[in-house]
Amino acid sequence: MADQHDGTRCVHAGLPDPVPGEPFLPGPVFAAPYHLDPWQGPAATPNGYGRPDNPTRRLLEAAIGDLEGGDCRVFASGQAAITGLLLAVLRPGDTVLLPADGYFPVRAFATDTLERLGVRVAFVPTVGPYPSLAGVRLVLVETPANPGLDVVDVPALAARARAAGALLAVDNTTATPLGQRPLDLGADLVVASGTKALTGHSDLLLGYLASRSAELLDTVTAWRTTTGAIPSPFDAWLAHRSLATLDLRLARQTANAEALARLLTDRPDVTGVRWPGLPDDPAYPVASVQLRRVPGVLSFDLGDADRVARFLDAARLVAAATSFGGLHTSADRRAQWGDDTTPGFVRLSCGVEDTVDLVADVTAALDAAGPGGAASAG
Ligand SMILES: Cc1ncc(COP(=O)(O)O)c(C=O)c1O
Repeated sequence: MADQHDGTRCVHAGLPDPVPGEPFLPGPVFAAPYHLDPWQGPAATPNGYGRPDNPTRRLLEAAIGDLEGGDCRVFASGQAAITGLLLAVLRPGDTVLLPADGYFPVRAFATDTLERLGVRVAFVPTVGPYPSLAGVRLVLVETPANPGLDVVDVPALAARARAAGALLAVDNTTATPLGQRPLDLGADLVVASGTKALTGHSDLLLGYLASRSAELLDTVTAWRTTTGAIPSPFDAWLAHRSLATLDLRLARQTANAEALARLLTDRPDVTGVRWPGLPDDPAYPVASVQLRRVPGVLSFDLGDADRVARFLDAARLVAAATSFGGLHTSADRRAQWGDDTTPGFVRLSCGVEDTVDLVADVTAALDAAGPGGAASAG
């Protein structure tokens, strides 16, 4: 399907060949054990036991793998995929570089668990500078990073990693495989949360890893099988069903983000607007080359926690919620979760509402929220 366009690829990704009388996407297969051939046992069937084998999961993996341009393994959540990669690949004495400004539970896992296991951990800001990669086993970057939306030049870093013998993994959660194809850009591995825009309906958790290296995939598959970090058949089916509209959802989310980014930039009462699609955004020079489309997530600062609360309370189309990439526009004051951000920093995720309605609602909510600081008390 490589010669087809995004919408077509999403609609058809991972579907079996048509069989008269059968559905387009077969329903979820719920099974712990499967019937075995009494003589040949598991060797005679692709399905022996539900932890390693499930046909619904394999169809989803074929779909995501097709979009990422590699082979895919899905996990119970993004964290299961990322921690699975780190634990499957790293050994005591290895050094791993992780984003200093990325999704904070990855940093917490590194200092709580990896360091205890004897792995050396170093944190690097997404924009760099990246230290010498000599002696480094794995570099994990998140681009665009959550929540700050900085980006890293993946081909340049991939060349450095290759020269140093390090593996490069890219967290593709924010961009999705339609926004960025890290394996084409030279990365060895993609990891991501499928909970966000990839599936986009705010109703399931999912993670995945993709690679073109059979050896890495074998290592990670063995890890997943022994730890059991698998999504349920129902979640895998729901994810596959949702994937079909990814192109449509992203198109509206990006259009909404562009409109809101311009609105927020024009308002004197909003500071620090970040959206990698704005020509004067610091991420723009790399993003405009590397991203196939800009995600529907943006960030800005409303000055203090009270003003953020007033804004969210007044908005009718902006749900106060964490996570991002869903159908419904939502916003999150990241400091309340422990992110190293200012008290008024907001990550806003555009949904698929009509742009004109969203712009009107955000304008009205900001007006209603009034100015920040003491003047607004009460
Ligand atoms: C960039 C990034 N990676 C990974 C994760 C973890 O994903 P999950 O919540 O599916 O475990 C998140 C969650 O917000 C994320 O934003």
